Amino acid sequence: MLFIMFLMRLLIIIIDFLFLFYPVILVRNHKNDLQPDVLLKDQNMDFKPQIVAFLCKWCSYTGADLAGTSRMEYKPNVRVVMVMCSGRIEPTFILNAFLKGADGVLVCGCHPGDCHYQEGNYRCLRRFLLLQKYIQQMGIESERLKLEWISASEGKQYAELINGFTGTISGLGPCKIRETMKVIPQT
Ligand code: FES
Repeated sequence: MLFIMFLMRLLIIIIDFLFLFYPVILVRNHKNDLQPDVLLKDQNMDFKPQIVAFLCKWCSYTGADLAGTSRMEYKPNVRVVMVMCSGRIEPTFILNAFLKGADGVLVCGCHPGDCHYQEGNYRCLRRFLLLQKYIQQMGIESERLKLEWISASEGKQYAELINGFTGTISGLGPCKIRETMKVIPQT
């Protein structure tokens, strides 16, 4: 009889224990479920976009230089490639930049009518419009490729452009094209 009472007492203690700690166990498991999301969020917060900017020598590169010499503050995520004219930028330059790790590509040239090679920037514009459509087909968001006209005196505009574009790319997150290329069978 005493043994049965002892067993019942033990059972009551176990049931009390479960009622008391079960919600705590549930919350802990729930937290563990959320952990990957939290980690993902932290990773996104750490994301530093890599941007490649192709700048024409006569206008945009000089504008970027002006922003630097005027000590204007802008984001340091940009690697500049100077070209003689925006018309020199071949589509493969841009595609290779994405394939080699760029999260965004910026193309800058002289304002329409100011190209030192007459119509280089008009050619660039035509290629850009086609390329924006093409990269979408490859799974790259069109916002990752941007074209702007920057003159030699527009250092402030250049700094603002870099800050704005870096913000856009930060919002989009890392470019996924390299992962896509890994699953495409190579011929
Ligand atoms: S020289 Fe600047 S776009 Fe042609």
